Amino acid sequence: MIMRAATPSREQRRGVIDRYREFLPVSEATPVVSLGEGNTPLIPCARLSEKVGRGCQVFVKYEGLNPTGSFKDRGMTVALSKALERGAQAVVCASTGNTSASAAAYAARACIRCAVILPAGKIASGKLVQAYVYGAKVVPIEGNFDAALRVVRELGRRPEFTIVNSINPDRIAGQKSAAFEIVDELGDAPDLHLLPVGNAGNITAYWRAYREYHNAAIARNLPVMLGFQAAGSAPIFHDKVVENPETVASAIRIGNPASWQSAKEAIHDSKGEIDIVTDEEILEAQQWLASNEGIFVEPASAASIAGLFKCCDERAAYPFKELQPESRIVCTVTGHGLKDPEAVRFTRGTSVQPLEADVLRAIGF
Ligand code: F0G
Repeated sequence: MIMRAATPSREQRRGVIDRYREFLPVSEATPVVSLGEGNTPLIPCARLSEKVGRGCQVFVKYEGLNPTGSFKDRGMTVALSKALERGAQAVVCASTGNTSASAAAYAARACIRCAVILPAGKIASGKLVQAYVYGAKVVPIEGNFDAALRVVRELGRRPEFTIVNSINPDRIAGQKSAAFEIVDELGDAPDLHLLPVGNAGNITAYWRAYREYHNAAIARNLPVMLGFQAAGSAPIFHDKVVENPETVASAIRIGNPASWQSAKEAIHDSKGEIDIVTDEEILEAQQWLASNEGIFVEPASAASIAGLFKCCDERAAYPFKELQPESRIVCTVTGHGLKDPEAVRFTRGTSVQPLEADVLRAIGF
Protein backbone atom coordinates (compact mmCIF):
# COMPACT_ATOMS: atom_id res chain seq x y z
CA MET A 1 0.00 0.00 0.00
CA ILE A 2 1.29 3.45 -0.84
CA MET A 3 1.24 5.78 2.15
CA ARG A 4 0.33 9.28 1.17
CA ALA A 5 0.86 12.22 3.46
CA ALA A 6 -2.47 13.97 3.97
CA THR A 7 -2.47 17.70 3.24
CA PRO A 8 -2.40 19.36 6.64
CA SER A 9 -5.49 21.38 7.50
CA ARG A 10 -5.26 25.08 8.26
CA GLU A 11 -5.37 24.29 12.01
CA GLN A 12 -2.58 21.70 11.73
CA ARG A 13 -0.24 24.05 9.94
CA ARG A 14 1.99 25.99 12.28
CA GLY A 15 2.44 29.71 12.15
CA VAL A 16 0.48 32.65 10.83
CA ILE A 17 2.27 32.89 7.45
CA ASP A 18 1.84 29.21 6.76
CA ARG A 19 -1.90 29.34 7.52
CA TYR A 20 -2.90 32.69 5.99
CA ARG A 21 -0.35 33.17 3.22
CA GLU A 22 -2.97 34.22 0.64
CA PHE A 23 -4.01 37.19 2.82
CA LEU A 24 -0.47 38.35 3.64
CA PRO A 25 2.17 40.36 1.76
CA VAL A 26 4.46 37.34 1.27
CA SER A 27 5.60 35.34 -1.74
CA GLU A 28 7.45 32.07 -2.34
CA ALA A 29 10.66 34.11 -2.09
CA THR A 30 9.92 35.28 1.46
CA PRO A 31 11.97 33.38 4.06
CA VAL A 32 9.54 32.48 6.87
CA VAL A 33 10.64 33.49 10.36
CA SER A 34 8.18 31.78 12.67
CA LEU A 35 7.83 30.41 16.19
CA GLY A 36 4.50 28.69 15.51
CA GLU A 37 2.48 31.73 16.55
CA GLY A 38 -1.30 32.09 16.29
CA ASN A 39 -3.99 29.41 16.49
CA THR A 40 -4.74 30.59 20.02
CA PRO A 41 -7.82 29.28 21.83
CA LEU A 42 -11.20 30.96 21.48
CA ILE A 43 -12.59 30.05 24.87
CA PRO A 44 -16.38 29.94 25.45
CA CYS A 45 -16.98 31.59 28.82
CA ALA A 46 -20.16 30.52 30.62
CA ARG A 47 -19.87 32.95 33.54
CA LEU A 48 -19.13 35.93 31.32
CA SER A 49 -22.10 34.94 29.12
CA GLU A 50 -24.29 34.77 32.24
CA LYS A 51 -23.25 38.33 33.15
CA VAL A 52 -24.36 39.59 29.73
CA GLY A 53 -27.56 37.50 29.77
CA ARG A 54 -30.29 37.22 27.08
CA GLY A 55 -28.76 34.06 25.65
CA CYS A 56 -25.63 35.88 24.47
CA GLN A 57 -22.45 33.86 24.11
CA VAL A 58 -19.14 35.38 25.17
CA PHE A 59 -15.81 34.01 23.89
CA VAL A 60 -12.35 35.06 25.00
CA LYS A 61 -9.54 34.99 22.41
CA TYR A 62 -6.55 34.17 24.61
CA GLU A 63 -3.59 35.81 22.90
CA GLY A 64 -1.32 35.27 25.90
CA LEU A 65 -0.70 31.78 24.50
CA ASN A 66 1.44 33.06 21.63
CA PRO A 67 5.17 32.14 21.77
CA THR A 68 6.27 35.31 23.58
CA GLY A 69 3.01 35.65 25.49
CA SER A 70 1.21 38.33 23.48
CA PHE A 71 -0.58 39.02 20.18
CA LYS A 72 2.47 40.90 18.90
CA ASP A 73 3.95 37.65 17.56
CA ARG A 74 1.33 37.54 14.79
CA GLY A 75 2.65 40.77 13.29
CA MET A 76 6.26 40.12 14.15
CA THR A 77 6.49 36.89 12.13
CA VAL A 78 5.51 38.90 9.03
CA ALA A 79 7.66 41.94 9.89
CA LEU A 80 10.82 39.89 10.48
CA SER A 81 10.23 37.64 7.48
CA LYS A 82 9.90 40.70 5.23
CA ALA A 83 12.89 42.39 6.90
CA LEU A 84 14.99 39.30 6.17
CA GLU A 85 13.71 39.17 2.59
CA ARG A 86 14.78 42.80 2.09
CA GLY A 87 18.23 42.10 3.55
CA ALA A 88 17.78 44.16 6.74
CA GLN A 89 20.71 44.31 9.15
CA ALA A 90 18.87 45.52 12.24
CA VAL A 91 15.35 46.11 13.51
CA VAL A 92 14.31 48.75 15.99
CA CYS A 93 11.12 49.49 17.94
CA ALA A 94 9.67 51.61 20.71
CA SER A 95 7.60 49.65 23.16
CA THR A 96 5.56 49.49 26.32
CA GLY A 97 7.01 45.96 26.66
CA ASN A 98 5.31 43.36 24.50
CA THR A 99 6.44 44.61 21.10
CA SER A 100 10.04 44.64 22.36
CA ALA A 101 9.76 41.08 23.72
CA SER A 102 8.35 39.85 20.43
CA ALA A 103 10.77 41.81 18.21
CA ALA A 104 13.71 40.51 20.25
CA ALA A 105 12.59 36.88 19.91
CA TYR A 106 11.86 36.99 16.16
CA ALA A 107 15.06 38.97 15.48
CA ALA A 108 17.04 36.31 17.35
CA ARG A 109 15.41 33.66 15.17
CA ALA A 110 16.15 35.65 11.98
CA CYS A 111 19.78 36.34 13.10
CA ILE A 112 19.13 40.07 12.75
CA ARG A 113 20.25 42.61 15.35
CA CYS A 114 17.53 44.23 17.44
CA ALA A 115 17.38 47.46 19.45
CA VAL A 116 14.42 48.27 21.70
CA ILE A 117 13.73 51.79 22.98
CA LEU A 118 11.71 51.72 26.20
CA PRO A 119 10.31 54.22 28.72
CA ALA A 120 12.69 53.82 31.69
CA GLY A 121 11.11 52.26 34.77
CA LYS A 122 7.73 51.70 33.07
CA ILE A 123 8.05 48.21 31.62
CA ALA A 124 6.54 45.18 33.39
CA SER A 125 9.30 42.92 34.70
CA GLY A 126 8.43 39.83 32.65
CA LYS A 127 8.61 41.78 29.38
CA LEU A 128 11.92 43.43 30.26
CA VAL A 129 13.44 40.05 31.12
CA GLN A 130 12.30 38.78 27.73
CA ALA A 131 13.98 41.61 25.78
CA TYR A 132 17.28 40.96 27.57
CA VAL A 133 17.22 37.18 27.38
CA TYR A 134 16.41 37.14 23.64
CA GLY A 135 19.52 39.29 23.20
CA ALA A 136 18.16 42.69 22.16
CA LYS A 137 20.07 45.88 22.81
CA VAL A 138 17.83 47.53 25.41
CA VAL A 139 17.85 51.34 25.54
CA PRO A 140 15.78 52.89 28.35
CA ILE A 141 14.89 56.55 27.73
CA GLU A 142 13.87 59.40 30.00
CA GLY A 143 10.41 59.74 28.58
CA ASN A 144 7.23 57.83 27.79
CA PHE A 145 6.26 55.54 24.89
CA ASP A 146 5.28 58.47 22.67
CA ALA A 147 8.78 59.97 23.05
CA ALA A 148 10.35 56.56 22.35
CA LEU A 149 8.31 56.21 19.14
CA ARG A 150 9.41 59.69 18.02
CA VAL A 151 13.08 58.67 18.34
CA VAL A 152 12.40 55.39 16.55
CA ARG A 153 10.80 57.24 13.61
CA GLU A 154 14.04 59.28 13.36
CA LEU A 155 16.23 56.15 13.52
CA GLY A 156 14.09 54.56 10.83
CA ARG A 157 15.28 57.16 8.30
CA ARG A 158 18.72 55.54 8.44
CA PRO A 159 19.21 52.69 5.98
CA GLU A 160 20.54 50.33 8.66
CA PHE A 161 17.29 50.23 10.70
CA THR A 162 13.93 48.66 9.88
CA ILE A 163 11.15 49.82 12.20
CA VAL A 164 9.01 46.95 13.53
CA ASN A 165 6.39 49.02 15.35
CA SER A 166 2.87 48.83 13.91
CA ILE A 167 3.64 51.83 11.69
CA ASN A 168 5.28 49.08 9.61
CA PRO A 169 2.31 47.72 7.57
CA ASP A 170 3.68 44.16 7.73
CA ARG A 171 2.86 44.16 11.45
CA ILE A 172 -0.79 45.10 10.91
CA ALA A 173 -1.04 42.54 8.11
CA GLY A 174 0.09 39.72 10.40
CA GLN A 175 -2.20 40.82 13.22
CA LYS A 176 -5.21 40.37 10.92
CA SER A 177 -4.78 36.61 11.43
CA ALA A 178 -6.49 36.70 14.85
CA ALA A 179 -9.77 37.84 13.29
CA PHE A 180 -9.40 35.28 10.48
CA GLU A 181 -9.06 32.54 13.09
CA ILE A 182 -12.17 33.72 14.91
CA VAL A 183 -14.29 33.62 11.73
CA ASP A 184 -12.81 30.26 10.71
CA GLU A 185 -13.79 28.85 14.09
CA LEU A 186 -17.22 30.45 14.56
CA GLY A 187 -18.22 30.04 10.91
CA ASP A 188 -18.92 33.79 10.72
CA ALA A 189 -17.77 37.03 12.31
CA PRO A 190 -19.14 37.67 15.81
CA ASP A 191 -21.76 40.37 16.38
CA LEU A 192 -19.54 42.35 18.72
CA HIS A 193 -15.80 42.51 19.20
CA LEU A 194 -14.19 44.11 22.27
CA LEU A 195 -10.50 45.08 22.37
CA PRO A 196 -8.10 47.08 24.52
CA VAL A 197 -6.66 50.06 22.64
CA GLY A 198 -3.17 51.53 23.06
CA ASN A 199 -1.25 52.46 19.94
CA ALA A 200 -4.43 51.37 18.08
CA GLY A 201 -2.79 48.98 15.61
CA ASN A 202 -4.69 45.91 16.74
CA ILE A 203 -8.22 47.29 16.40
CA THR A 204 -7.15 48.52 12.94
CA ALA A 205 -5.92 45.04 12.01
CA TYR A 206 -9.03 43.22 13.26
CA TRP A 207 -11.39 45.52 11.38
CA ARG A 208 -9.33 45.21 8.20
CA ALA A 209 -9.45 41.42 8.50
CA TYR A 210 -13.19 41.28 9.12
CA ARG A 211 -13.74 43.46 6.06
CA GLU A 212 -11.42 41.35 3.91
CA TYR A 213 -13.21 38.13 4.89
CA HIS A 214 -16.55 39.85 4.27
CA ASN A 215 -15.47 41.04 0.81
CA ALA A 216 -14.25 37.52 0.01
CA ALA A 217 -17.68 36.18 1.15
CA ILE A 218 -16.01 34.03 3.82
CA ALA A 219 -17.96 35.95 6.47
CA ARG A 220 -21.53 37.21 6.05
CA ASN A 221 -21.49 39.32 9.18
CA LEU A 222 -19.43 42.37 10.15
CA PRO A 223 -18.99 42.95 13.88
CA VAL A 224 -19.49 46.12 15.87
CA MET A 225 -16.02 47.09 17.16
CA LEU A 226 -15.75 48.35 20.75
CA GLY A 227 -12.37 49.72 21.86
CA PHE A 228 -11.40 50.42 25.47
CA GLN A 229 -8.70 52.79 26.67
CA ALA A 230 -7.48 53.22 30.24
CA ALA A 231 -9.12 56.31 31.77
CA GLY A 232 -5.74 58.01 32.40
CA SER A 233 -4.49 57.27 28.85
CA ALA A 234 -7.49 57.90 26.64
CA PRO A 235 -6.54 60.23 23.76
CA ILE A 236 -8.98 58.74 21.23
CA PHE A 237 -11.88 58.86 23.69
CA HIS A 238 -11.15 62.52 24.53
CA ASP A 239 -10.10 63.32 20.94
CA LYS A 240 -6.99 64.99 22.32
CA VAL A 241 -3.31 64.02 22.79
CA VAL A 242 -2.57 63.10 26.43
CA GLU A 243 0.85 64.55 27.36
CA ASN A 244 1.41 62.48 30.50
CA PRO A 245 -0.60 59.27 30.20
CA GLU A 246 -0.91 57.20 33.37
CA THR A 247 -2.41 53.78 34.07
CA VAL A 248 -1.65 50.54 35.89
CA ALA A 249 -2.09 48.90 32.47
CA SER A 250 1.42 49.87 31.37
CA ALA A 251 1.05 48.21 27.95
CA ILE A 252 -1.54 50.81 26.91
CA ARG A 253 0.06 53.82 28.59
CA ILE A 254 0.06 55.81 25.34
CA GLY A 255 -0.95 59.45 24.80
CA ASN A 256 -0.62 59.81 21.03
CA PRO A 257 -1.45 56.55 19.22
CA ALA A 258 0.17 55.95 15.82
CA SER A 259 -2.97 54.35 14.32
CA TRP A 260 -5.36 56.92 15.79
CA GLN A 261 -7.09 57.68 12.46
CA SER A 262 -7.57 54.08 11.34
CA ALA A 263 -8.90 53.14 14.78
CA LYS A 264 -11.48 55.92 14.51
CA GLU A 265 -12.45 54.63 11.09
CA ALA A 266 -12.85 51.08 12.41
CA ILE A 267 -15.11 52.34 15.19
CA HIS A 268 -17.10 54.63 12.91
CA ASP A 269 -17.50 52.18 10.00
CA SER A 270 -18.51 49.30 12.29
CA LYS A 271 -20.99 51.53 14.20
CA GLY A 272 -18.96 50.85 17.32
CA GLU A 273 -17.70 53.00 20.18
CA ILE A 274 -14.54 53.93 22.02
CA ASP A 275 -14.91 53.98 25.80
CA ILE A 276 -12.77 54.18 28.93
CA VAL A 277 -12.26 51.91 31.93
CA THR A 278 -10.61 52.94 35.20
CA ASP A 279 -7.55 51.25 36.71
CA GLU A 280 -9.76 49.92 39.49
CA GLU A 281 -12.16 48.37 36.95
CA ILE A 282 -9.21 46.90 35.01
CA LEU A 283 -7.68 45.22 38.09
CA GLU A 284 -11.07 43.92 39.23
CA ALA A 285 -11.73 42.45 35.78
CA GLN A 286 -8.27 40.84 35.74
CA GLN A 287 -8.94 39.15 39.09
CA TRP A 288 -12.48 38.19 38.09
CA LEU A 289 -11.42 36.56 34.80
CA ALA A 290 -8.68 34.55 36.48
CA SER A 291 -10.80 33.34 39.41
CA ASN A 292 -14.06 32.74 37.47
CA GLU A 293 -12.91 31.55 34.06
CA GLY A 294 -9.32 30.38 34.75
CA ILE A 295 -7.82 32.89 32.32
CA PHE A 296 -4.94 34.99 33.66
CA VAL A 297 -4.16 38.09 31.61
CA GLU A 298 -2.09 41.22 32.10
CA PRO A 299 -3.88 44.45 33.12
CA ALA A 300 -4.04 45.97 29.61
CA SER A 301 -5.75 42.83 28.35
CA ALA A 302 -8.31 42.96 31.13
CA ALA A 303 -9.48 46.31 29.70
CA SER A 304 -11.67 44.40 27.21
CA ILE A 305 -13.27 42.43 30.07
CA ALA A 306 -13.71 45.57 32.18
CA GLY A 307 -15.28 47.06 29.05
CA LEU A 308 -17.69 44.14 28.75
CA PHE A 309 -18.77 44.66 32.37
CA LYS A 310 -19.20 48.37 31.74
CA CYS A 311 -21.40 47.67 28.72
CA CYS A 312 -23.73 45.65 30.97
CA ASP A 313 -24.32 49.00 32.65
CA GLU A 314 -26.30 51.98 31.29
CA ARG A 315 -23.42 54.46 31.72
CA ALA A 316 -21.42 52.80 28.91
CA ALA A 317 -20.90 54.36 25.49
CA TYR A 318 -22.49 51.17 24.07
CA PRO A 319 -24.95 49.83 26.66
CA PHE A 320 -25.87 46.20 26.02
CA LYS A 321 -29.57 46.90 26.42
CA GLU A 322 -29.40 47.65 22.67
CA LEU A 323 -27.97 44.21 21.99
CA GLN A 324 -29.89 41.56 20.04
CA PRO A 325 -30.62 38.42 22.10
CA GLU A 326 -28.25 35.49 21.41
CA SER A 327 -25.53 37.77 20.10
CA ARG A 328 -22.04 36.33 19.83
CA ILE A 329 -19.43 38.46 21.55
CA VAL A 330 -15.64 38.09 21.39
CA CYS A 331 -13.25 39.76 23.83
CA THR A 332 -9.59 39.72 22.86
CA VAL A 333 -7.24 39.40 25.81
CA THR A 334 -3.91 40.45 24.42
CA GLY A 335 -1.17 39.32 26.80
CA HIS A 336 -0.37 36.72 29.47
CA GLY A 337 -0.78 37.58 33.15
CA LEU A 338 2.67 36.26 34.05
CA LYS A 339 4.29 39.14 32.18
CA ASP A 340 3.35 41.57 34.94
CA PRO A 341 3.22 39.76 38.30
CA GLU A 342 3.70 43.01 40.24
CA ALA A 343 0.30 44.25 39.08
CA VAL A 344 -1.50 41.50 41.02
CA ARG A 345 -2.54 42.25 44.58
CA PHE A 346 -2.43 39.24 46.87
CA THR A 347 -1.34 38.34 50.36
CA ARG A 348 1.09 35.50 50.85
CA GLY A 349 -0.07 32.97 53.47
CA THR A 350 2.13 32.58 56.57
CA SER A 351 3.88 29.21 56.76
CA VAL A 352 2.70 26.48 59.14
CA GLN A 353 4.15 23.19 60.45
CA PRO A 354 3.81 20.22 58.04
CA LEU A 355 1.12 18.65 60.23
CA GLU A 356 -2.35 17.66 58.97
CA ALA A 357 -4.20 19.62 61.65
CA ASP A 358 -2.18 22.80 61.06
CA VAL A 359 -2.55 22.57 57.27
CA LEU A 360 -6.30 21.92 57.56
CA ARG A 361 -6.66 24.96 59.78
CA ALA A 362 -4.69 27.04 57.24
CA ILE A 363 -6.91 25.83 54.36
CA GLY A 364 -9.92 26.91 56.36
CA PHE A 365 -12.58 24.67 54.80
N1 F0G B 1 -2.64 44.83 25.08
C1 F0G B 1 -1.34 44.60 25.26
C2 F0G B 1 -0.95 43.51 26.19
C3 F0G B 1 -0.36 45.37 24.59
O1 F0G B 1 0.92 45.11 24.77
C4 F0G B 1 -0.79 46.40 23.73
C5 F0G B 1 0.18 47.24 23.03
C6 F0G B 1 -2.16 46.60 23.57
C7 F0G B 1 -3.06 45.80 24.25
C8 F0G B 1 -2.72 47.64 22.67
O2 F0G B 1 -2.61 47.27 21.34
O3 F0G B 1 -1.25 49.18 20.57
O4 F0G B 1 -2.39 47.68 18.96
O5 F0G B 1 -3.71 49.24 20.38
N2 F0G B 1 1.42 47.21 23.23
C9 F0G B 1 2.44 47.94 22.46
C10 F0G B 1 3.82 47.50 22.87
C11 F0G B 1 2.23 49.39 22.41
O6 F0G B 1 4.78 48.28 22.73
O7 F0G B 1 3.99 46.38 23.32
P1 F0G B 1 -2.48 48.41 20.22
